[in-house]
Amino acid sequence: MEHASRPTVIVGNWKMYKTEDECLSFLHALKQTLTTTITAQVYLAVPFTAIKSMASEEHKSNFPIKIGAQNMHDASEGAFTGEISGKMLKSVGADFVILGHSERRKLFNENNAFINRKVKRALYDDIQPILCIGETLQEHNDGIKEDVLKTQLYDCLKDITATELEKIILAYEPVWAIGTDLAATPEIAEEVHLYLRHLVTEKWGPQSSEKLVILYGGSVKTDNAAALLNKIDIDGLLIGGASLSVDSFNQIINAKTFKECL
Ligand code: PGA
Repeated sequence: MEHASRPTVIVGNWKMYKTEDECLSFLHALKQTLTTTITAQVYLAVPFTAIKSMASEEHKSNFPIKIGAQNMHDASEGAFTGEISGKMLKSVGADFVILGHSERRKLFNENNAFINRKVKRALYDDIQPILCIGETLQEHNDGIKEDVLKTQLYDCLKDITATELEKIILAYEPVWAIGTDLAATPEIAEEVHLYLRHLVTEKWGPQSSEKLVILYGGSVKTDNAAALLNKIDIDGLLIGGASLSVDSFNQIINAKTFKECL
């Protein structure tokens, strides 16, 4: 099933994998396998070094894949050795940026306030934010998942208006499911997505909630993609490991077609 007004969005997150040449070879191979009948919107979050060459190819394409980044800084510019700004990403053609991924939160100590500033900066620089939220295994086991998600959602989207929210994609990524082969069941993911929609309704109203695209991420593979997409409140998928091979990523993109047949 599908919600009439929301697109299906399939996002590959390549993390720190693939050189620029490898990225381009993947893109060419994927484009040969994709048919023009696919109805999902496909996004690839690639290493910074490959954004320019990939985006310049895709911006010329008839059915473009959106090319984006996996992180950015919240400042417009400044003395931040090793960081990258939204303006820089925009200048090489990035369409979107993943913000608040749990690996950034855990390994680089990013907190909700910092992520909130990044969301605002991305919007200012006209880059679509994909905001990731999700509870850890500990939080899951402690039964505080709902509180954690509420805090992450509201704090990361502090001062965001309903109009701005329309430009944002939300991704529910339970940390215990990322890279573990322990994906949330479609039922559990759907329950959380419904809860997130309820939180969005509370703060921004029912229309915003209806429109918000919410992805599920965490051990999405070829064998669970269609069942996840079949849930009415799961609008798409954020895929790490299985997006690194053309074959599995292509199958997941086409899971949407199977979804319609279910
Ligand atoms: P995974 O990663 O699909 O390898 O679990 C998902 C993610 O990190 O976004």
